[in-house]
Amino acid sequence: MKAIILYDALSEGGTTDRIITSIGETLAAKGVYIEKAKTPPLADYSFLSEFDVIILGSPIYNFTPSPNLTEAFGRSNLLKSMLGKKVALFIICGGPELTAELLYKPQFTARLLRHNVIADKIFGMTEKNNPQSPVRFADEIFEKATAAQS
Ligand SMILES: Cc1cc2nc3c(=O)[nH]c(=O)nc-3n(C[C@H](O)[C@H](O)[C@H](O)COP(=O)(O)O)c2cc1C
Repeated sequence: MKAIILYDALSEGGTTDRIITSIGETLAAKGVYIEKAKTPPLADYSFLSEFDVIILGSPIYNFTPSPNLTEAFGRSNLLKSMLGKKVALFIICGGPELTAELLYKPQFTARLLRHNVIADKIFGMTEKNNPQSPVRFADEIFEKATAAQS
């Protein structure tokens, strides 16, 4: 299985990087070929055809996902290139998970109505400080992606 983590963050070495590393290491330990890439707004995302699973994630800044990711949704072929793929979604934020479920997650899911979203996770004020949370999320992605394959 080939998977890619597509993400954006305004910080380097912040929570997003830590969570991506944990998801990536957990999947790699299961034999998944894993890459990561940022989401510039005007890139050509047709290279996603190589991957079976696309793991899309962003922190929330000022009530919205990272601006490069939001722009990539609107201005590039990112969403089109994810059609027919297994998609997993994660959101990182400073507030409570319930707030994020109601306020932030719809900003992603409204864009992914035609996509096959197999797992989603909010790393909010409780979950983002639990080192087991990204490991469990990666386990869930692996289980659902392999179940969908068989
Ligand atoms: C400028 C800024 C704005 C933020 N706005 C929000 C927000 O609107 N809602 C929220 O829940 N968290 C907000 N946060 C918290 C971030 O989502 C959270 O700290 C996240 O871990 C940042 O990821 P990073 O460390 O990888 O940059 C904000 C953080 C910053 C720095």
